[in-house]
Amino acid sequence: MRQIRLTKVRPGMKLARNLLGRKGQVLLASGITLTKEYLDKLRALHVKSLFIHDARYADIKIPEYLSQETQQRALAILSTTMEQIYDKKTFAIDAVSDIASDIVEELILQPSISIQLTGIATHDDYTLAHSLNCAIYTTLLARSCNFTVPQIKEIACGALLHDVGKIKVDKGIINKPDRLTEKEFGIIKEHPLSGFNLLVNKRWEISSLVAHMAWQHHEKIDGTGYPRGLQGEEILNYARLLTITDVYEAITGHRPYREAMKLQEAYNIIQSGLGTTFDEHFGKIFLSKMALYLPGVEVTLSTGEQAVVVSVSETSPQKPLVRLLSYADGTPYIPPRDINLAENPQISIVSTSHI
Ligand SMILES: [Fe+2]
Repeated sequence: MRQIRLTKVRPGMKLARNLLGRKGQVLLASGITLTKEYLDKLRALHVKSLFIHDARYADIKIPEYLSQETQQRALAILSTTMEQIYDKKTFAIDAVSDIASDIVEELILQPSISIQLTGIATHDDYTLAHSLNCAIYTTLLARSCNFTVPQIKEIACGALLHDVGKIKVDKGIINKPDRLTEKEFGIIKEHPLSGFNLLVNKRWEISSLVAHMAWQHHEKIDGTGYPRGLQGEEILNYARLLTITDVYEAITGHRPYREAMKLQEAYNIIQSGLGTTFDEHFGKIFLSKMALYLPGVEVTLSTGEQAVVVSVSETSPQKPLVRLLSYADGTPYIPPRDINLAENPQISIVSTSHI
């Protein structure tokens, strides 16, 4: 299996993973042979990449930490929750905390994993997938920072709900491809408090920490964030975790109006914000666990050889196991040979064909 850009997908290729719609429904089922008509439809839906069967990479597994069933259920619950809040100003918190708990239990069951992109589809409405991805990354980070399981469940719930305040913001502003005007940015800046106010509503039981995650997730350690300009310890540790994963998801995820950035760029942005934008301790743990290369991605090595990433370990997520495909002069390796970059420090990855 490998993940390739939609522009490189040709009719006749076989889909290797279900493609989910914004409410978690299956748009296209795994195993289907793609036709020109399907590809046209997917382009219209702004789908950027697909998982494709490829015999050359048959043994390369692109990890999917969360089962499709849980992903679908989470997207459906989030979608219903947003509609309920929008229409009736109320929602079923139990459904959200139950799915947060299921997400955590599924992720905690995994023996040891690095923080990797999970490939959850983002199409017409990226807020839902953004919230789900944030819940996954924040769970993995909180686990690495040794929070307890009940705490991680609360954190995951807060991550799922952190952007609820955005339902009050005009979609045109949220999806605007150009730079926001000062007035528009002012409106965006209201979403943390709107979210807090929606969540602390007395009609349902919700942990105040969850509500505060919504209010504080755009604060920065040095006090330059919004809405209140809180500093350092004034920001809850739950929110300090979410600040990191929220930015990571925002820059690595696809948006209708721009391409996703490379993982190395996301790494650099987080690293340069350690101690100013982001909590230094949590940020360093995040970077140490963050995979820069994903299985199935083609890379060029410092030796000039072409290779493909086979797997990424938690102990050295930035030094993956790769399969050499061709020599620097383009001659193919026959048969291809696997090398572990963690055991070959003299060889590095110089570029990737990141999706
Ligand atoms: Fe936000």
